[in-house]
Amino acid sequence: MALTASRWDDLEGSKIGEAYELALELKAQGRQIFDLTTGEPDFASPEHANAAGKAAIDNGQTKYTPTDGDMALKESVQLKYRRDNGLEFDINQICIGSGAKPLLYYVLLTILDIGDEVIVPTPAWTSFPGMVELAGAVPKLVSCTREQGYKLTPQALETTLGERTKAIIINTPSNPTGAVYSRTELEALEPILSAYPDVVIVADEIYEYLVYDVEFASVAATLPSLAHRIVSVNGASKGYAMTGWRIGYAAGPVLIMDTLRKLLSQSAGNPTTMSQLATIAAIEGPQDLLAERSELYRRRRDLAVQILNQAPGLHVDPPDGAFYLYVDCSEALGSQTPDGKVLEDDAAFCQYLLESEGVATVPSVGFYAPGGFRVSYACDEETLREACQRIARACNHLR
Ligand SMILES: Cc1ncc(COP(=O)(O)O)c(C=O)c1O
Repeated sequence: MALTASRWDDLEGSKIGEAYELALELKAQGRQIFDLTTGEPDFASPEHANAAGKAAIDNGQTKYTPTDGDMALKESVQLKYRRDNGLEFDINQICIGSGAKPLLYYVLLTILDIGDEVIVPTPAWTSFPGMVELAGAVPKLVSCTREQGYKLTPQALETTLGERTKAIIINTPSNPTGAVYSRTELEALEPILSAYPDVVIVADEIYEYLVYDVEFASVAATLPSLAHRIVSVNGASKGYAMTGWRIGYAAGPVLIMDTLRKLLSQSAGNPTTMSQLATIAAIEGPQDLLAERSELYRRRRDLAVQILNQAPGLHVDPPDGAFYLYVDCSEALGSQTPDGKVLEDDAAFCQYLLESEGVATVPSVGFYAPGGFRVSYACDEETLREACQRIARACNHLR
């Protein structure tokens, strides 16, 4: 008898995780690797957050909190939504979890019946379709092209919505493309979603604080007529560079949050107590570091875009947010490496970059879209410059 359930036989692990782990393995073997796979800020967590976390331990605040989070952190999250998005949530509309990732999964489990369909615009974060499948539902992938700025158009939404659609995931700013939906682009989706009153909108806004030259438009704040069926998910990881603290939060309609709370109470348990206290400090403390770091990310983005666009066969448009570049390498596919190998697809292309130049990237197949790769510029400028020059050199050697 098999030791694992047969329903997991076809389950695939996160492609980003695989690329990252391969880079780590090669580093451990002593190879010099320029790792552009990681979706993690290279900056330190804010000092005041670190201090609050340490103080929590010293003060003996090392015990359980309520499963759906400490009241004081829920109040901070309430304040954040008021301050940053002009949104008002009651405390019972907010749940805290151990990162946005598990919360997104629990939100999907909360709303989905077996066989329901969830619209996932692609290129998409590698875990969205996987989470939908774990919840017993079916991801409906909608391809969003480079010409559309990798964003869902009202037309594409309209043709994909159907009787079985239960939810749509909107990730703005997006991983992997960095695309940010403007207020107008979100508003254009509203009349179409209004015609499907049972569809829940899951807004993953984890990269909210990483936007360049544009204004961030929160989905719930932009579409108030749909607020009764929007769940916003966010967290401390990206903006505050607190990935390892593992704190995310969700805010949405009471009916959904009440059930989510029950799911959390039967399975997840409460998020780490000192991490919650550190997150309060991050949300309520000085916010200047967000703008300062955004400026540094913007410089890195421009540097990488400039070098990569000079490489034959590569095209990248400067994205408005997050810390990723989604590089179109479709023109380079089909060409031959110096040792005569034909690069059939994006995975082979990324393998070539790794083998020939020691640069680790994530192939776009991991984002449910062909012909590209993702570069993370959440690394120091020197590493980024060298890595991008190496990518360009590898492209110059193709025939
Ligand atoms: C789009 C997106 N959502 C959610 C997450 C998860 O964030 P957290 O660290 O809060 O679990 C990530 C992390 O890479 C992400 O890219």
